[in-house]
Amino acid sequence: MNIQDSVLVIRPMEKEDMDAVVEINRECFTSDAWSKSAFEREFSLNYSHKYVLELNGSVIGYLIAWTVYDTATLMNFAVKKEYWGKGYGKKLLTYLIENFKDKVSAIHLDVRKSNMRAIRLYKSLGFKIISERPKYYSDGESAYQMVLELSTPSDSLKG
Ligand SMILES: CC(C)(COP(=O)(O)OP(=O)(O)OC[C@H]1O[C@@H](n2cnc3c(N)ncnc32)[C@H](O)[C@@H]1OP(=O)(O)O)[C@@H](O)C(=O)NCCC(=O)NCCS
Repeated sequence: MNIQDSVLVIRPMEKEDMDAVVEINRECFTSDAWSKSAFEREFSLNYSHKYVLELNGSVIGYLIAWTVYDTATLMNFAVKKEYWGKGYGKKLLTYLIENFKDKVSAIHLDVRKSNMRAIRLYKSLGFKIISERPKYYSDGESAYQMVLELSTPSDSLKG
């Protein structure tokens, strides 16, 4: 199949997507993988926003973000390994930013210092490193805290 024939859809995650999402999560995160029940719990949280990226009818990526007051936090984000480096992660995150830009003033995330692929992606979308969290992960690795500042409608009213 040619790339131009492929159908790419970003839509809200449904409970039926759980098996595919859990599998991608296990493939992408080793010590940090979420349990299936952790993903299921997200459906009971009204501040949890969940999306999947579907390629030709198969889920190949997902993203979960929380919104608390006027701030969003990226909680979990992955693309199936065989599809890395093809722009799918960027599409999914760009969708979130577009969706959130009038609703929140900033998007926060934590990322392993060694995760150059993700850090490059975040930087290419305007995220900046604001601090380091020493030994943040259970294996002792530190995290970068990154933030994307968004201008909200209230900002433009401030003149
Ligand atoms: C991080 C992740 C979601 C990115 O998804 P992806 O589909 O591979 O990303 P994309 O193909 O959209 O790449 C976007 C950017 O990443 C960077 N990138 C892509 N391939 C790269 C590579 N081989 N090495 C380093 N950076 C790379 C580039 O900056 C690229 O932007 P560009 O196309 O403008 O050059 C994916 O690699 C993944 O699931 N990783 C494991 C889980 C994870 O680390 N999640 C984030 C936790 S904070």
